[in-house]
Amino acid sequence: MPFDFDKIARSYDSLNRLMTAGLDILWRRRAVRAAIDTARPLQVLDVAAGTGDMALSVLRRSKPGTRLTAIDLSEEMLAIARRKLRGRTAEFLIADAERLPFPDGSFDLVTVAFGVRNFAHLQQGLDEMRRVLRPGGRFVMLELSAPDNPLLLALYKLYACRIIPSVCGLLSRNRKAYEYLPASILRFPKPARLTPMLRAAGFEAVAHRAFTFGVCRMYVCS
Ligand SMILES: C[S@@+](CC[C@H](N)C(=O)[O-])C[C@H]1O[C@@H](n2cnc3c(N)ncnc32)[C@H](O)[C@@H]1O
Repeated sequence: MPFDFDKIARSYDSLNRLMTAGLDILWRRRAVRAAIDTARPLQVLDVAAGTGDMALSVLRRSKPGTRLTAIDLSEEMLAIARRKLRGRTAEFLIADAERLPFPDGSFDLVTVAFGVRNFAHLQQGLDEMRRVLRPGGRFVMLELSAPDNPLLLALYKLYACRIIPSVCGLLSRNRKAYEYLPASILRFPKPARLTPMLRAAGFEAVAHRAFTFGVCRMYVCS
């Protein structure tokens, strides 16, 4: 992983809310609505679960009997997730998304929110998430992105590359983390490059939607 999330775990949630003006909560909710449209309980894997916000959203919409496994590389992020999800049917594992410790076809639903951008080997991570999904299962991915519109892109770059590192860098006392964020967003593949990668991982159906002028994108794959 190119960046160590242990260093920003304590301020991660509050700075997420601040940076996105709370929109990250709505984006996760929309992803969960796209992920779960069945009345039966599911086996769910939340990859790069971090502080557990996506896992919590999934469990809030899931039917009784749903079991969720949350994995992440960062002990500190996952410690917060454990506390947040206390009392829910969830288990937490330190594991690498690029080498998932589960047999083929273990899950009905795999989710990942704002995680894949941080993988050292994106295709390897996508291949693994497809491998652990059972035939007919669904994979839902959310990721931050830069808008396509040139005027919005210029404003976005000002916000993401100048304001976020100054404000969030100061509040988290880790400017590097908030310089890494816009750099990783700007180099992350757009749908035209990412869709063939998802197909190469084995997904036959890949649907993409842009949220909030394209600053967040959702992929629903099966
Ligand atoms: C931006 S946070 C996202 C957390 C959470 N999913 C959310 O919705 O807020 C990215 C997370 O990805 C994790 N991560 C990065 N690379 C990973 C990998 N190869 N395997 C597992 N987790 C990884 C980081 O430790 C971090 O907790």
